[in-house]
Amino acid sequence: MFYRLAQKVLFQTNPEVAHAIAMTGIRATSHTPLSCFYRQKVPHAPVEFMGVTFPNPVGLAAGMDKDGEAINGFAEMGFGHVEVGTVTPRPQPGNDKPRAFRLKPARAIINRMGFNNKGVDNLVANIKAANPGDCVIGVNIGKNKDTPLEEGKNDYLICMEKVYEVSGYIAVNISSPNTPGLRTLQYGEMLDDLLGSLKAKQAELAEKHGKYVPVALKVAPDLSDEEIKSVCDALLRHNFDGVIATNTTLSREGVEHLPEHGEAGGLSGVPLRERATEVIKKLHQHLDTRIPILGCGGIDSGADAMEKIEVGAKMVQIYTGFIYNGPELIKSITEEFIKRK
Ligand SMILES: Cc1cc2nc3c(=O)[nH]c(=O)nc-3n(C[C@H](O)[C@H](O)[C@H](O)COP(=O)(O)O)c2cc1C
Repeated sequence: MFYRLAQKVLFQTNPEVAHAIAMTGIRATSHTPLSCFYRQKVPHAPVEFMGVTFPNPVGLAAGMDKDGEAINGFAEMGFGHVEVGTVTPRPQPGNDKPRAFRLKPARAIINRMGFNNKGVDNLVANIKAANPGDCVIGVNIGKNKDTPLEEGKNDYLICMEKVYEVSGYIAVNISSPNTPGLRTLQYGEMLDDLLGSLKAKQAELAEKHGKYVPVALKVAPDLSDEEIKSVCDALLRHNFDGVIATNTTLSREGVEHLPEHGEAGGLSGVPLRERATEVIKKLHQHLDTRIPILGCGGIDSGADAMEKIEVGAKMVQIYTGFIYNGPELIKSITEEFIKRK
């Protein structure tokens, strides 16, 4: 009820201003009596994923809380996990504004944010200061825009080293369409080299900190069948812990009729749903139960989430659906999950 009112007001402004207002509000009110406007009890429905126990199967996808500034508030909404980031080693401003567009009739968003964030040291400090209870904090890592692609691997290793101690899991983002060349890391030798180096670093850090933090790869929905197979082969070869599918798409299928469809960037929300589910299905065909899948893309209802779980995802994440539905969606997905179990 409150969200519907808040959304009415927020949707009067452009998406980035709305986001800033909402984040400030959540940050200022979390762990105070005013969090009653969004705080809710989500039924306990624990899920074991990559060796970590999550209190329920619904997480906040990366990009909403890039700097980990409102973790407590999202935990109070009942998210089972919050994936902060994408964070890069150094702060960077991202692309020029405007860079986010609502496609309301399609319940979708196009964004070309470009990893705007305050850098990994700031994020680590924010995570250390947070108190999210049993909500798991995942950290999504990326490379700075001005780091040459050939040196991109080092940015991931720097981030991994810095966030390792404070992460419940680490997500490696090589699938954003908004950092030039980034998606090249999804292919061939570059992918092999990156995955191998990350796993070696993980082993070193596990020894150093006496704790094993799983690492998942976040993939794009625009991979061909062959590319999906070769990503799976690489994941298996390197014994990766998990895969997150999917990021936003470059496709404009289903939104060609809307004026914003010509904006550059990644499309998310309902028009992405089917393709993301298809990618999860294909990943699952190759990976079976050897590497678990976290499903994301176009989830707008409990039934949408179950569709992802039925084709092989163990848990889900939401971003655009959360904008259009509010915290209620966390609860309805979890209730549907319990019903279908
Ligand atoms: C405005 C915006 C910013 C995003 N930023 C990131 C990001 O920094 N890193 C990332 O891995 N994904 C990012 N995403 C992608 C989401 O995490 C998610 O994978 C995608 O939106 C599909 O899910 P959805 O249809 O539920 O939104 C972003 C999405 C949106 C809409």
